[in-house]
Parts: sequence; C-alpha cells; structure tokens
Amino acid sequence: MIIAIAAIKGGVGKTTLTFCLAATLVHMGKTVLCIDLDHQGDLSAAVGVEKNSSEPDIGQILFAPKREQAKLFSQAIIEVSGGFHLITPGVNLGAYQTEIEKGLSSESRLKDAIDQFEAAFENYDYILLDTPKGESLFTKNALVACNKVIIPVQTEYFSLKNIPELLHLVSEIADRSNPDLEVSTIVPNRMKSTSLHKSIYEQLMEWDVRTYLGHQTHAAWVSPPIKDLTIYAELSAQAQSLYSYSGSKAEHRAPFLEIAKQLELSRTSELTREVQVVG
Ligand SMILES: Nc1ncnc2c1ncn2[C@@H]1O[C@H](COP(=O)(O)OP(=O)(O)OP(=O)(O)O)[C@@H](O)[C@H]1O
Ligand SMILES: [Mg+2]
Repeated sequence: MIIAIAAIKGGVGKTTLTFCLAATLVHMGKTVLCIDLDHQGDLSAAVGVEKNSSEPDIGQILFAPKREQAKLFSQAIIEVSGGFHLITPGVNLGAYQTEIEKGLSSESRLKDAIDQFEAAFENYDYILLDTPKGESLFTKNALVACNKVIIPVQTEYFSLKNIPELLHLVSEIADRSNPDLEVSTIVPNRMKSTSLHKSIYEQLMEWDVRTYLGHQTHAAWVSPPIKDLTIYAELSAQAQSLYSYSGSKAEHRAPFLEIAKQLELSRTSELTREVQVVG
C-alpha cells in the first residue's frame, strides 16, 4: 500500500508523522520503504542520514528514462535506523523539478518508477511518501502514485483553512489520473488541552472530506490526537525512533499505533478483495 503524507501547509507534522508511523509499522513486523520527496531532507535528517545518501537520489530516479527507473530505484534504497528503508531527496531536487517539468508526464514520474520496480510491491507492505509543503510537483507525484492520503492538521486557529486546498488537488488528481485515490485519515497534531484546541478537534471530527471529494465513498477517519510534546521534536533532533528513544513511553506511541492498526485493517481487507477477484 502506498501512502502519501500531505498537507499544503508547512510545519504541520508531515515528516514527524511519516517518521513515527514508519517506526510503528516496523515495530508491528511490517516492511516499510519511505521516500523523502522534500528538498529540505528533513526525514533523512530525522533518521540521521545526509540528504544525498541515496545514490542515485529520488531526483535522478524521477528524471531518468522510464526503462532505467527500476534499476535506479533498487540502487537508491538504503537501510536506516528505525528498521525501515529510505530513498533520500538528493541535493538538487529543485533543479530536477525544473528539468522534469520541461518533459512529458511530469506528474506521474514517481508512479512510473514504482510501477517499473516490481520489487516495490513484493518487498514492502507499505511505501510512505513524505511530501513538501505547498502544491509542489513532488506532492502531485505523490498523489498520483499513492493509494491513500493521510493529512496531518495542526490543531490551531486557521489550520483548517488549508485542508480544502489540498482536497481540491486530490479531487483533480482522482478525476484525471488516480480514480481510487482516497483520503483515508486526518491526524490532529500538536494538541494542547486548551478549549481552543478542543473546539478545533471537534470541528475536525465533524469535517467530511466528501464535501470536496466527489469520487470518495468513505468518510476519512480522524485519528486520536497527537499531543504537543517536546519528545516528538527530540526524536528527530537526536535521530532516534519512538521505539529506541529512552524518553519514549507507551502513551507517546499510542496514537501512531492506532493509525497503523487502521491502515493494516484496510490493507488486509484490500488484499482479501484482490484474492477473491483473482480466485
Ligand atoms: N506533536 C508534536 N509536538 C511537538 N513538536 C512537534 C510535533 N509535531 C511536530 N513537531 C515539531 O514541529 C516542527 C515541524 O514538524 P514537521 O517537520 O514534522 O512538519 P512538516 O509538515 O514536515 O514541515 P515542512 O512543511 O517544513 O516539511 C518540527 O520541529 C517538529 O519536531
Ligand atoms: Mg517535512
């Protein structure tokens, strides 16, 4: 299952969520590949590697001719602390963006690359795509390539106003190129115990993404909130995972475990459906 972690707004917790979810899925015995699609390379930094650690990097893979992508993909994967695999963005992702946009099919380069690399589906239960802020080419590539979208939302005033922008993009991509694309989960992040935060959380619970997504039949699931705690910042600053860091407790892992379990339910039910169709 390919999952994009996306939000048009910056700094809402996309990378933190990707990092903690990947570690949680690995802890549950799942195989996970993360792709860092952000030129900032924050996900790479969070696991303690340089953003040019993959050779080739994701920019080179997306820029390469389709026939070469499978080979490049397999060469690019590195194993990182936390027990998952990673492809880093490289140092020239911005320059690659300009070149890719001059060519054809610029928004489906990642889908093409993953489709070419059959081992992606044999070797990994989950491929997690950490996206940059804004409507970048790489966010579009993630939405074209993925099955599901998870949206982290900071429980702050004004933070809800960016969700429709992302949902319009999802809707357009579903209409043009990825009809099964589904916003599966909304993750309230940086929750504090003030009345403002509680009221924003309640608004999120009432929010129905289908108002913006004509193609989607199921409502998105709103996960338990992730509290605003320095431990989540410490994890990435110290390149430690939720499962290796000494200060990490069960309560810090609990929301990620719930999100991972929910994903696993939907992944296994999709696998069962596929088996029935084949049978
Ligand atoms: N629940 C949380 N509690 C405390 N700090 C958090 C929490 N979630 C994220 N942070 C911190 O907030 C900052 C932004 O988080 P993060 O980098 O995950 O956001 P992002 O959406 O990936 O940002 P960008 O748009 O720049 O890629 C980081 O310093 C991170 O450590
Ligand atoms: Mg980020």
